[in-house]
Amino acid sequence: MIPVWVQLAYLVAAVCFVLALKGLSSPRTARRGNQIGAVGALVACVVVFFEGELDHLVPILVAIAVGSLVGVLGAQRVQMTQMPQLVALFNGVGGGAAALVALLELDEFVDAGTGAGVEEFALVATAFTVVVGSVSFSGSLVTFAKLQELMTTRPVIFAGLPVAFGGGLVAALVLAVVVVLQPALWVGVVLALLGLVVGTLLVLPVGGADVPIVISLLNAFTGLAVAAGGYVLDNTVLLVGGTLVGAAGTFLTLLMARAMGRSVAHTLFGALKGGSTQGAGMASDRPVKSAGPADVAILLAYAQRVIIVPGYGLAVAQAQHTLRELVDVLGERGIDVDYAIHPVAGRMPGHMNVLLAEAQVPYEQLKEMNDINGEFKHTDVVLVVGANDVVNPGARTIPSAPIYGMPILDVDQAEQVVFMKRSMRPGFAGIENELLFDPRTTLLFGDAKDTMGKLLNAVKAL
Ligand code: TAP
Repeated sequence: MIPVWVQLAYLVAAVCFVLALKGLSSPRTARRGNQIGAVGALVACVVVFFEGELDHLVPILVAIAVGSLVGVLGAQRVQMTQMPQLVALFNGVGGGAAALVALLELDEFVDAGTGAGVEEFALVATAFTVVVGSVSFSGSLVTFAKLQELMTTRPVIFAGLPVAFGGGLVAALVLAVVVVLQPALWVGVVLALLGLVVGTLLVLPVGGADVPIVISLLNAFTGLAVAAGGYVLDNTVLLVGGTLVGAAGTFLTLLMARAMGRSVAHTLFGALKGGSTQGAGMASDRPVKSAGPADVAILLAYAQRVIIVPGYGLAVAQAQHTLRELVDVLGERGIDVDYAIHPVAGRMPGHMNVLLAEAQVPYEQLKEMNDINGEFKHTDVVLVVGANDVVNPGARTIPSAPIYGMPILDVDQAEQVVFMKRSMRPGFAGIENELLFDPRTTLLFGDAKDTMGKLLNAVKAL
């Protein structure tokens, strides 16, 4: 019987998790939400030590110390642009841990014997945790490798992949049934190994541009695996926490898939059908119009309406503070300036919001895609800073492009477009952007931070 005070402490932790999710739903309250969630997790971890007698206390404390050290150092050192990889890695470790715990529980069930009151449903939950946790572990490691560019970011497809994937799924289902009817540790271990294979095969065919959706989906998987693990261990806070992660991950997956204009099934299996794997070809040597900071400063200073489109390159260059200064100076000259935020600009959900909030950009200036798209046709100059895919009209016109169907910012409707980038290299999706060759487009080449500083000085000097 779990003592009442422990149940209450778990309730406090669960309430913290719910408040954390609520806080995370807005950039203003996200930091506080994160802190509340961390307090909830701390309460849940500490209570375990006082709940009852713990075996293996020393190895547990050593494991916590090592895990905390790696977590703190990893989180401190990671660049903002590498955050999705970190999320993928942490998520995978969570899924793997849930699968291992379930295997240990399975071992205990086997020792106790099925006649000893082990419910069948607990065995179902155990098998579920083993397989889903393993899928999440291996799938997350592959997404990590793709985002870290340790392997190709293009879809990896080979003959027989669909058969291997389907066969793996069926075999996992059969083994899960065996775990429930004839529990044995070795069957659980084979099930876990099969889960690792299925997770790998699930993510290999996903192209780089779709990887964030898959990270979110695997996050939901980990949540569900942890929730089922909570049932197996009779631990309320794991059950609640896992369910919240599962639900939040599922919603985020659906929202991101919608933002990229595709279904989750298309994201996962689209490449197998032969579509959406290749781009339209790499940088051609067609002529483009480029200019220096002084020319672009004149364009900006004599405009009435300017829209800034921030992208991944802004984050890489860390040019957000100088950009905010430039927008302030333009504002002082009476120019109407807003930022257009594409839902998947950057490399993770909300990347641009976080980046610009860090530079103290007022929230009122951040306009979401659907709210601002109608305004581009009345805009004098659009300044695209380190963005490419999210303004690529190929998403509307090139069916073979990996971003085909993704809603884009309608930058091509503006009177003038200025791209700040270093070269003619494509964006994350690896496809050429026709807008770079448009007669209304001017390219301002260079690292965004360096060029932004020069542009700011040039505008001030006018
Ligand atoms: P991208 O299409 O990747 O374009 C980034 C641009 O920044 C590139 O054209 C690059 O050109 C330029 N750049 C890089 N470093 C720079 C620097 N130091 N100074 C100036 N420019 C620099 O970015 P996007 O438009 O933000 O689109 C996001 C892409 O990432 C989409 O394909 C999206 O699907 C994918 N994605 C999004 C997420 C989420 S949820 N946000 C997660 C993962 C992936 P140069 O190399 O020529 O400079």
